[in-house]
Amino acid sequence: MMETQSHSTQPSSDPERKILIVDDEPGIVKLLVETLQQEGYSCFGCESGQEALRLIRAHGFDVVLCDVHMPGMSGLDLLRLVREKHSRVAFVMVTGEGDIRVGVQAMKEGADDYLLKPLNLEAVMISIKQVLERKKFADELDNYRLHLEEMIEQRTAQLRKAIGRIEQTYDETLQALAAALDLRDNETAGHSRRVMEYSLEIARVMGCKNEQLNALTRGALLHDIGKIGIPDDILRKPGPLTVQERAVMRMHVWRGYGLLNHLAFLADAAEIVLTHHEQFDGTGYPQGLIGVDIPLGARIFAVADTLDALTSDRPYRRATTFAAAREEIIRESGKQFDPAVVSAFLAIGEGTWAELRSRKGIVRALGIEREKFMLPIQFDAALRSLEASV
Ligand SMILES: [Fe+2]
Repeated sequence: MMETQSHSTQPSSDPERKILIVDDEPGIVKLLVETLQQEGYSCFGCESGQEALRLIRAHGFDVVLCDVHMPGMSGLDLLRLVREKHSRVAFVMVTGEGDIRVGVQAMKEGADDYLLKPLNLEAVMISIKQVLERKKFADELDNYRLHLEEMIEQRTAQLRKAIGRIEQTYDETLQALAAALDLRDNETAGHSRRVMEYSLEIARVMGCKNEQLNALTRGALLHDIGKIGIPDDILRKPGPLTVQERAVMRMHVWRGYGLLNHLAFLADAAEIVLTHHEQFDGTGYPQGLIGVDIPLGARIFAVADTLDALTSDRPYRRATTFAAAREEIIRESGKQFDPAVVSAFLAIGEGTWAELRSRKGIVRALGIEREKFMLPIQFDAALRSLEASV
């Protein structure tokens, strides 16, 4: 191998560019190496394909200029091996006098250019410059693509983060709203949070997916949002409601649905809000839906709602025990409640329900991404803040 770094007094080419000359005729190698060095290239030479492969592996080259006819490994053999392992190296094939077909074959197999013998040094320089230009452009394109991919990854990560923040803000807003609703209805302080916890526990046992859990979280929190439109003298009436008042009260499911269903992120929750008073046997309202025509979230919510209602104190009665609430839920299986949901409810131990009632159970109950389910703690903070302000 003959190799000399370029020290031309007037380099006309990029000295970082490395060229390898491969030819079994030492005189040609010497002539080309010296000529290219004078032009300012870092030029190396060798006399066989095997040696060329070793040099390419060891040093890396921008251009290989190779004679096609060599003993042992031919120029075409070398070209194929270079294309397999070193695809970014530009390759110029040198063929015999008038042997254009070999040149064309070399181009088909991945050569960037070909030259005919006897070599014209000016043609060699032009060819080298052209393939280097194309290689430079291809390298820049690769770098740009790489940069673009990195940029897209970064932007995607930023976008995900922003969406996460927006979703968190949505949920915090919903929790504050639910806390406000509970405060307006004196009987149900903390009710929305608890039914959300209970519903999610049952849903987890039933194998619900994250999307269903999200809809259930929001639907349970906002199930009675339609009561915003119910006058205080009906909503807070201490005695039994008249038929007319009951009809007004029942409108809260439609009002709630109307408030939420046009918001894309609450569309599924709106279905739960509309159907949360339906009963499995078709005796509920507003549509008298039967069985699985009632959305699963609403069937789950119904059990959770009854559990919390029975085990919470009311101004007119004390809370029942968990055992009594459990018996009541079993009695209503197939009537008010979906038996499959009741089975899931029964599969959960009393200790879990007690734990869910307290703050300790909040994260465990949700069973999906922990961050999202730190929210009920913020819910309590929102509740305390609202309580302090009234
Ligand atoms: Fe309701």
